[in-house]
Amino acid sequence: MPIPAAEIARVVDSYPKRPGVGTVGSHSALDVADGAVAEGLTSVVLVQAGRDATYAQYFRTLRDAGGRRRRGCVDEVWTYPKFADLASPESQERLRQRGVLLVPNRAMSSYVPLATLESDLRVPIVGARAMLRIEERTERENYYRLLESAGIPSPRAIASPDAIDRLAIVKLPHARRRLERGFFTAATAEEYRTKSRALLERGTIAADDLAQARIEEYVLGPVFNFNFFFSPLVPRTEGLELLGVDERRESNLDGMVRLPAAQQLELPAAERIPEYLVVGHGTLTVRESTLEEVFRIGEKFVDAARARYPPGILGPFCLQTCIDRDGHLTVFDVAARIGGGTNVHLALGHPYGNALYREPMSTGRRIALEIRRAAEDGRLKEIVT
Ligand SMILES: Nc1ncnc2c1ncn2[C@@H]1O[C@H](COP(=O)(O)OP(=O)(O)O)[C@@H](O)[C@H]1O
Ligand SMILES: [Mg+2]
Repeated sequence: MPIPAAEIARVVDSYPKRPGVGTVGSHSALDVADGAVAEGLTSVVLVQAGRDATYAQYFRTLRDAGGRRRRGCVDEVWTYPKFADLASPESQERLRQRGVLLVPNRAMSSYVPLATLESDLRVPIVGARAMLRIEERTERENYYRLLESAGIPSPRAIASPDAIDRLAIVKLPHARRRLERGFFTAATAEEYRTKSRALLERGTIAADDLAQARIEEYVLGPVFNFNFFFSPLVPRTEGLELLGVDERRESNLDGMVRLPAAQQLELPAAERIPEYLVVGHGTLTVRESTLEEVFRIGEKFVDAARARYPPGILGPFCLQTCIDRDGHLTVFDVAARIGGGTNVHLALGHPYGNALYREPMSTGRRIALEIRRAAEDGRLKEIVT
């Protein structure tokens, strides 16, 4: 049972004018924490014991005798035995008492069961709670459906291994590191069989996952992850903002492409199939004449999300795209929440965000600005679910 909007509205009605900004300590938490303190709010990072040093030590806020921050941006660190414990009744009560708004990230939707986030976590989420599940490709209501209903190009699905007639990418989780990928590419049914056998033997993928894998056309072109923001607080024509663009570094794929072809061919057979573990991010801008298409797709996405998952997108979202040789975008992945690469502009601001705001505007800061504006105008309930 989804949590009624009226219940969440009652909770935020009881919140102070300057709510705390809470996020799960991983993924993009530093960006969110930095943005919160830049806007004069308090940052609260929810961590799992043993995974807390970044927040509890290295970026922890230190104050001078007068209470002013002199270092760091993580004001409070709340430690749990396991991330999922942040949804325990005691923790929820503490979050509400402290007036914390939760900014969802991929760590939250990976470590806290989706059913808990949807039906049990009675703490306001800045964003679209009901859209967290669409990232799961094995769900019937996944992001491909949303893209289709929005009329946004996405990679053509290939029904079965035998139907592979061009370069395809096979998407399934890693066998052991469940939150990571066991992706591989294949251009023919034969290559699919050889590679999947090798990966099964190596323990990179599991047979059950392979049977459920999404096979889709591989789009040849560079990856651009567009970090958008949508505000429901302003007229619809001003609601959509493009803040910045990132790309991912994936291991060991990026290591392999840094080798000259002759050396790649000398790699032992077991190392010739790349893995796609995201290990870092880079920053990009996009050719200026492509921007209109980027906005067109962003607008379609916002409209479709509002129709299919009301109230739709609230705040940051990320469309992960390849741009082909004709300069057109194909969206291959969607995050209906803060993307994983926004730290590229942490504290500096995103190029497009800065151009809009005339001051440094990272995704984290934009979220905090939205919270501050909504809180000041008594409109918090419009940006939470
Ligand atoms: N259809 C595709 N064509 C080309 N590359 C793709 C395609 N889908 C994914 N990729 C590559 O695989 C990476 C991870 O894919 P993605 O769908 O974002 O997986 P995840 O959901 O695990 O983030 C992308 O960054 C991109 O490099
Ligand atoms: Mg992705």
